[in-house]
Amino acid sequence: MSGPRAFRGRIVHCTGDPDAGGLVEHFEDGLLLVDEGRVRSLGPAETLIKNLSEDIPVTHWKGSWILPGFIDCHVHYPQLDVIASYGEKLLDWLETYTYPAEEKFADPDFARVTAEQFLDRMLANGTTSAMVFATVHAHSAKALFSAAHERNLRLWTGKVLMDRNCPESLRDTAVDGIRESRELIDRWHGQDRLQYAITPRFAPTSTAHQLDLAGQLATEYPDVYIHSHLAESQAELEWVAELFPDADTYTDVYRDHRLLRERSIYAHCIHMEDDSVATMASAGAAIAFCPSSNLFLGSGLFDLDRARVAGVRVGLGTDVGGGTSLSLLRTVHDGYKALQLKGQSLAPERALYLATLGAARALYASDRIGNFAVGKEADFVVLDPARNLLLQRRLASADTVRDRLFALLMLGDDRLVRQTYIMGRPALKEA
Ligand code: GUN
Ligand code: ZN
Repeated sequence: MSGPRAFRGRIVHCTGDPDAGGLVEHFEDGLLLVDEGRVRSLGPAETLIKNLSEDIPVTHWKGSWILPGFIDCHVHYPQLDVIASYGEKLLDWLETYTYPAEEKFADPDFARVTAEQFLDRMLANGTTSAMVFATVHAHSAKALFSAAHERNLRLWTGKVLMDRNCPESLRDTAVDGIRESRELIDRWHGQDRLQYAITPRFAPTSTAHQLDLAGQLATEYPDVYIHSHLAESQAELEWVAELFPDADTYTDVYRDHRLLRERSIYAHCIHMEDDSVATMASAGAAIAFCPSSNLFLGSGLFDLDRARVAGVRVGLGTDVGGGTSLSLLRTVHDGYKALQLKGQSLAPERALYLATLGAARALYASDRIGNFAVGKEADFVVLDPARNLLLQRRLASADTVRDRLFALLMLGDDRLVRQTYIMGRPALKEA
């Protein structure tokens, strides 16, 4: 582990949920002191620097913003090559583009190289943690775990479970899928910052038997995660009703198989009855709001206000390759626009929260990541607004912190990222 070091710049983070009195704390000239990879203190540079021992190195990111690393609650690493594929909605998009791309992961070398590239792109976008889909191949999860371990990332993944309604080449069996998942849990779950997620793709691609066994496995490992999709498109909903006629709702399919609980993350959750949202809230399940994907695939508009009122945990997901960017900044601005169409709004405080501390809460990791509270793991990003002249000009006319933050969130993207730090250490080659 590394000794103490300090980082100086405009520092911004959320102290808590904006609905529960949480604030955006802002230090125009702030100092973040990191020791042993964790936050030691945070405050105005002027005061903290006076007490700082002279041998502690200070990196001065003058003119730049220092934010907690972004957290992506839902993304598919095998879908890098699927981004921006033309013309289909979810179910046809899966058949036409996604499954063929995932078939390439039968080759472990391809999986290994893609896992490395994915994480490097993710870090270049300022994302420091993610809940990630692999493919049905156990070695695809292993490849991502290995690459994340080398980079010391806090990351969740798992082998996809899929035993029907997909190409033969991507099918496991109920029993083999669970056996492989168990082996991966025993090898990787809790290994430094890595966590396992039991990953049934979505209800249509698993038999009831596979979902049963997945629920049984989850019950055996209460601190393991569950990761899937729920109620993304209308056609999917109709298909689920045909395949599971005994369940009253799509949400009940997962609940009936013991897959709805704390540490379960469901992407999308758009086409749902109020009761199902309440069911998720009381189960402690979380939603990954994926606006870029929802717009790109024409899936629908997520009801964020309803989820907030119901008290469901929500974080943002890029959902690449349904989403068109690995940048949580771009995902935030898609979220703002999608909510405008829904007659709702996304205040800058909530937008930052959803991409950082709220996402950490959705992933039951807010005791470790998500903001600069003392003791947390020092994952953060340095954003330089001067890298986008339009943003720089817009900021020059902003006279409140709130307006500045909003402009940064709406106009920012990966061009702004000067450096991404993982537990206080730089993760990008060039600064
Ligand atoms: N539902 C089932 N599989 C997928 C997937 O790969 N992407 C998205 N967006 N939805 C899904
Ligand atoms: Zn997805």
